[in-house]
Amino acid sequence: MNLSGKVSMITGAGRGIGKQIAMVFARSGSDLAICDVDEALVEAAGRDIEESTGRKVLSGKVDVTSPEEVEGFVKKILDNFGSVDILVNNAGITRDNLVMRMSEAEWDSVIDVNLKGAFNCIKAVTRPMMKKKSGKIVNMASIIGVMGNAGQANYSASKGGLIALTKSVAKEVGSRNINVNAIAPGFIKTDMTDKLGEDARDRLLGLIPMGRMGESSDVATLALFLASEDASYITGQVIKVDGGMVM
Ligand SMILES: NC(=O)c1ccc[n+]([C@@H]2O[C@H](COP(=O)([O-])OP(=O)(O)OC[C@H]3O[C@@H](n4cnc5c(N)ncnc54)[C@H](O)[C@@H]3O)[C@@H](O)[C@H]2O)c1
Repeated sequence: MNLSGKVSMITGAGRGIGKQIAMVFARSGSDLAICDVDEALVEAAGRDIEESTGRKVLSGKVDVTSPEEVEGFVKKILDNFGSVDILVNNAGITRDNLVMRMSEAEWDSVIDVNLKGAFNCIKAVTRPMMKKKSGKIVNMASIIGVMGNAGQANYSASKGGLIALTKSVAKEVGSRNINVNAIAPGFIKTDMTDKLGEDARDRLLGLIPMGRMGESSDVATLALFLASEDASYITGQVIKVDGGMVM
């Protein structure tokens, strides 16, 4: 799949799945604008990707919960590259707790980053995409947004909300040739899942027919397909990459 001539914006790209998506997109010929709330991480990721692919990478510190920071970054992308063709809303956090113990701050922060962050980014790119009558938006949801999970009421609500947001925006912008889809990964090896205890890990592994955790690259190749012209007649969909965990 070829992304030559395309400009991709990827959030939360300092590490994990987002960084892997950035690497795969750059190898497929895309120019890149990557951002993360962690400045040192995103700058190091940008250098890594430039060194290993030779592509141009614009890296920036952006907190996706801030509409001003997001708009400022999109303006920078337009000034540098002239367009933004692909948006991957990947930034996400967890603050797990049982609902009766969950603080307001734990609830708010997860909804803010995972759901409002995606809204801010979608809002900032739709005008240039609509003008160009072309665009691809890929939202990183989760199977937890489909099936729920004890101890993750905030996270599952944010990802379920992101799935609903995906479908509504797909309906709004479909006639302008903009595709909006969501990916629902299962249990993928990253810093986020490294935090899980052994018990939770064993319990989750027992639910996966393929009997193993996924890799960031398993998610990145699906993101590449959805961002490419090969997926031009797919919109409003939620595609699982989970080794068969939810069928
Ligand atoms: N790892 C999994 O098993 C899994 C499963 C399903 C869904 N996901 C989703 O995939 C995405 C990436 O997950 P990951 O496992 O690579 O996580 P990760 O924690 O390794 O990486 C997430 C990145 O997002 C950045 N980030 C956090 N808050 C931000 C903010 N306010 N603004 C900008 N950037 C911010 C972090 O600094 C980090 O670099 C997340 O949306 C996550 O919910 C992960």
